[in-house]
Amino acid sequence: ASVLLINGPNLNMLGKREPHIYGSETLSDIVGHAEKVMAELGGTLTHVQSNHEGVIIDAIHSAWGVHDGIIINPGAFTHYSYAIRDAIATVQLPTIEVHISNVHAREEFRHHSVISAVTVGQIVGLGSDGYEWALRAMVRRLEKNKK
Ligand code: DQA
Repeated sequence: ASVLLINGPNLNMLGKREPHIYGSETLSDIVGHAEKVMAELGGTLTHVQSNHEGVIIDAIHSAWGVHDGIIINPGAFTHYSYAIRDAIATVQLPTIEVHISNVHAREEFRHHSVISAVTVGQIVGLGSDGYEWALRAMVRRLEKNKK
């Protein structure tokens, strides 16, 4: 399986950014671990981080016909980017949404995702481990759908 991992705005600051909420691991720690997990599962992982909505949309478009699935933490775009939602709907690749923090226990504006209606599902509040669970769930799903 070939999976595209996308991290949106401010996630390049993980480790320094509000560690009481997002933990002390850096993005490169998280991506390094995700690559290891993917290798163990016999797949490949491509990672893109951007603070720019259009770059994220372009990355989603370029996944079409190239990758088998997308794991995305859209950061704050989760709550208002109809354009990212439409990009996911356009490419019709199975997509899993990840949030490090428990968005439902935080400010009201974080309770709603405009993205989740076009995803397979969400993993929320399990810290950086959520990326690993999302990868495992994606690979399992892709294998099941092959049979
Ligand atoms: C986040 C939650 C969002 O509300 C926030 O804007 C982020 C990170 C998370 O991973 O918990 O940037 O997606």
